[in-house]
Amino acid sequence: MWAVILVFVFLMILALSSVFALAQSRVPVVRTPTQHLDAITTALALAPGSLVVDAGCADGRLLRSLCRREGVRGLGLELNGGVWLWAWARTRLSPVRDRVRIRWADLFRQDFEEADLVYAFLMPHLLPRLYDKCAEEMRPGSLLATYLFEVPGRDPERVILLGKRKDPLHIYRLERAASPDRPKT
Ligand SMILES: C[S@@+](CC[C@H](N)C(=O)[O-])C[C@H]1O[C@@H](n2cnc3c(N)ncnc32)[C@H](O)[C@@H]1O
Repeated sequence: MWAVILVFVFLMILALSSVFALAQSRVPVVRTPTQHLDAITTALALAPGSLVVDAGCADGRLLRSLCRREGVRGLGLELNGGVWLWAWARTRLSPVRDRVRIRWADLFRQDFEEADLVYAFLMPHLLPRLYDKCAEEMRPGSLLATYLFEVPGRDPERVILLGKRKDPLHIYRLERAASPDRPKT
């Protein structure tokens, strides 16, 4: 009986989290199209030992694709509890389960210090804040890749056009950290 109640409460928390996530972030759960996964994985060419963060990973399939390259490690961050559970379960059943973690978390409250690449398919209103966070926390020379939407006022090092619709993937090299007196996000 207690087990049923606990599962019910857990599911209620996940449902409430889903409503809260959408209201807070105003970012729908839309995934990078499957037909782009191979091209993105090839273009980003992560080296063995690299850590990639998918900032808002939805079901995690893009992250798992990036981590198919030998030795690449992944961290998926997802605010929506229901979607996080789905991503976590899919990842546990995948061949890259030992190298990929899926965390139920707000990406703006996580530290990106160890990341070599942050991938984001987020709405434009979040990208300036994400760029500043990456520049402040990540090592110089590491990468931020944004799918579809560019970071306003920042020049990407490369833009890759994907598929027939030529969907852009913007790749920014974070050359130097932002000013140290910038407040932490
Ligand atoms: C457009 S989907 C992209 C999914 C995945 N990155 C992909 O490319 O397939 C954006 C996801 O980011 C999540 N999200 C939005 N704001 C977030 C935040 N502050 N922290 C963590 N996840 C967030 C949303 O819940 C949604 O699942």
